[in-house]
Amino acid sequence: TLKANIVLLPGDGIGPEIIQQAELVLGRIADIFGHEFEFESHLIGGIAIDTCGDPLPQATVDACRASNAILLGAVGGPKWDDPSAKTRPEAGLLRIRKELGLFANLRPIRLFSQLVDASPLKREIIEGTDILFLRELTGGIYFGASGRDDNNGDESAYQQMVYSVSEVERIVRLAAKAAQGRDNRLTSVDKANVLEPSRLWRQVAARVMTEEFPDVQYDVVLVDAMAMHLINRPRDFDVVVTGNMFGDILTDEASMLPGSLGMLPSASLGSDGPGLYEPIHGSAPDIAGKGIANPLATILAAAMMLRHSLDLPAEADAIEAAVEAVLADGLRTADIARGAESIGTEAMGNAVLQRLTQ
Ligand code: NAD
Ligand code: IPM
Ligand code: MN
Repeated sequence: TLKANIVLLPGDGIGPEIIQQAELVLGRIADIFGHEFEFESHLIGGIAIDTCGDPLPQATVDACRASNAILLGAVGGPKWDDPSAKTRPEAGLLRIRKELGLFANLRPIRLFSQLVDASPLKREIIEGTDILFLRELTGGIYFGASGRDDNNGDESAYQQMVYSVSEVERIVRLAAKAAQGRDNRLTSVDKANVLEPSRLWRQVAARVMTEEFPDVQYDVVLVDAMAMHLINRPRDFDVVVTGNMFGDILTDEASMLPGSLGMLPSASLGSDGPGLYEPIHGSAPDIAGKGIANPLATILAAAMMLRHSLDLPAEADAIEAAVEAVLADGLRTADIARGAESIGTEAMGNAVLQRLTQ
């Protein structure tokens, strides 16, 4: 029996809808396997701005620090999109990542064989794809100094991209270790032909790989070319390590391999303390409140939480098997139905619950 204290951060838009389904799944796992999971919900994002004027209230940070793991829905939405607003929902997410030191964002691109035809890409191109992205999450351009200059009346804005040796070392090491547990291949993606931080990244990555991981097959690809290779020959990649912004963009692109953003979970991990688990998609304002969002990315994020933070691999396997069973039975939310018949968020959550077994 494991006792775990899990913080839920539903956030905005479809966040609460999908978190509800994942909570039910985790609750059922606790029942089946005899664990005690305690859930505590806290504010983050737009709803936190509306409630207390801060996208990341101190109470949320404290609860996260005291927890065993955190499950987040999504933040943001048109209501808080005014570019001149003094704070934004997204700032809350960036801050919790930084405060908890969650420098490594694992984004597995896993194809469900049942869903091959949900992808806009051809079966013969995507079949066999299995990529693990490691996106650096607490550095780079997301966290560089920013501001505006009057610039003699022609106002300008800037945002610096900075990476240090130790930041690159730790994410590359983690990626190389992940590769050793998989197909032993690592690709580092950068823009070293143009950007100075990318040149540092490339030097440091090469040194870490030669000195510490000579057994891992290693190569480098420029980010613009990578955007193409991902669509053209996705099978050629095993583990991919890259900086914060490139990783953000490439993984949304990669979501079209399995067929939908609504299928992709992620884990954000630091060197110690609780991990944060979330779907890679956002608050989907276009479908929020309609009860049609795909909860599977969040449910799969809950599985990653069981595996990485709570050391419950059999329980994680059980969730993933239930998701596969649901897909095998032909159940689809709209985003993966490709025009065929679809079910809603709750029905999909229920279908997973029904198929959960030890
Ligand atoms: P988005 O990921 O919210 O949506 C992109 C498209 O994918 C939309 O058409 C949406 O309906 C669809 N989609 C996303 N998740 C889905 C799901 N589970 N089921 C079915 N369809 C799904 O990206 P966006 O529209 O560019 O951004 C909306 C807001 O979300 C913005 O405020 C953005 O900052 C925020 N955002 C938050 C996170 C996060 O909290 N981690 C991530 C990305 C974007
Ligand atoms: C993500 C999101 C976030 C990011 C935003 C909402 C800050 O797009 O988690 O991928 O860019 O990291
Ligand atoms: Mn993103």
